[in-house]
Amino acid sequence: MACYDLTSRIAPNLDRHLVFPLLEFLQERTIYDDNQILKGKIDLLRDTNMVDYAMDIHKSLYQTQDVPEEMTRRRVDVVSRLRSLEESAAPLIVFLQNASLVQELKSDKQYNLQMLNDRYQIGVEQIEALYQYAKFQFECGNYSGASDYLYQYRALCTNSDRSMSALWGKLAAEILMQNWDVALEELNRLKDIIDSKNFPTPLIQLQNRIWLMHWSLFIFFNYENGKNGIIELFFQDRYLNAIQTNAPHLLRYLATAIVINKRKRNMLKDLIKVIQQEQYSYKDPITEFLECLYVNYDFDGAQQKLLECELVILNDPFLGKQVEDGGYATVPVRDEFLENARGFIFETYCRIHRRIDIGMLSEKLSMSHEAAERWILNLVRSSKLDAKIDSNSGTLEMEPNYLNVYELLIENANILSVRTETLAKNVLEIASQTVR
Ligand SMILES: *[C@@H]1O[C@H](CO)[C@@H](O)[C@H](O)[C@H]1NC(C)=O
Ligand SMILES: *[C@@H]1O[C@H](CO)[C@@H](O)[C@H](O)[C@H]1NC(C)=O
Repeated sequence: MACYDLTSRIAPNLDRHLVFPLLEFLQERTIYDDNQILKGKIDLLRDTNMVDYAMDIHKSLYQTQDVPEEMTRRRVDVVSRLRSLEESAAPLIVFLQNASLVQELKSDKQYNLQMLNDRYQIGVEQIEALYQYAKFQFECGNYSGASDYLYQYRALCTNSDRSMSALWGKLAAEILMQNWDVALEELNRLKDIIDSKNFPTPLIQLQNRIWLMHWSLFIFFNYENGKNGIIELFFQDRYLNAIQTNAPHLLRYLATAIVINKRKRNMLKDLIKVIQQEQYSYKDPITEFLECLYVNYDFDGAQQKLLECELVILNDPFLGKQVEDGGYATVPVRDEFLENARGFIFETYCRIHRRIDIGMLSEKLSMSHEAAERWILNLVRSSKLDAKIDSNSGTLEMEPNYLNVYELLIENANILSVRTETLAKNVLEIASQTVR
């Protein structure tokens, strides 16, 4: 399954702290050798301040109590730098922690800066120190501390680039703390800035959009209403364009969101179009399943791909998340995907056949005959299909007034043959005239 793992394409678009949850997932799924993942974690940790964590991993990886000198030295560095940053940021932090002082702040940024400077001798330097301190806390893995300080920093910061990187940091912190509501707010805030800001080049703006979409995966596949959110974001022209330019692997998530979201059925056609346009730059069993079904009408191929889709979902850190449900572990995205995908196969099948043998269909859907019959009855009831089950012959009969694809094909073929006939007649006439 490692060949369908997108981690190596996704990780470069994430903050390194956000890569840890992905590695944790892969470690649980045992897709890779455990030591390989542990080494990956130590590499990631090298540029963070989470030295104790790196030490623990080193100990378990090499089965030892000793840690490399380099790590011990780094730990001393980190602690002393934390102290010094704490000191520089102290005047502002003391102010911010005092509720009665904070009340003096107004919604006017310029007023606040002036007031802090005049009354408390807190200037640009101390505000900058707050940013550095927050960033350092983040690198130490103290996401709650970082989130608070970055929020306060943004309220005082006047540099738009700095303010934006503080917002990225805040978003990462909220994701890592799994505060999905707040994370979604920050995501939208960041999106507004990315869409309206003047970037030095369009390429940088494109890159920001691509980062944003990658980060959004955490939120959308964990947030109740996320299935709608991801479709809305990824289908906006500028974002879809970014996907097609530089991140076609994101199509896996867009496709999955559309398959599992009954209310977005109308997007399926546009999705298929994009999947076809990108078929040389990206494909996986999920996009291939849709292609088999809606482009090639290849039911056996779709059936085969569906089996692979299940494995892809189970091994994807965003899609394969397990949820405890009354003592049982389920994977909601997998269940919803299979249910809807079977519905797709069924509906498409019904559109090109007038009489369907339920035994044969139950095989295509990998279900027992009884289960298939019950399931089909439900589908017929809930979809707009005009059909009934004939229990005697074990078939599903489509109503004759139902204009299916087959009939459309026949109709077109008729028009075509009329045209050909006329054409032949004309040719004959011309020919006979010439002879005469
Ligand atoms: C908050 O600031 C006020 C004014 O400087 C001071 O009197 C008070 O003791 C401070 N409160 C705390 C909890 O430090
Ligand atoms: C995280 O940062 C906050 C704010 O600086 C601090 O109060 C808290 O003690 C820190 N937590 C840890 C575990 O270091």
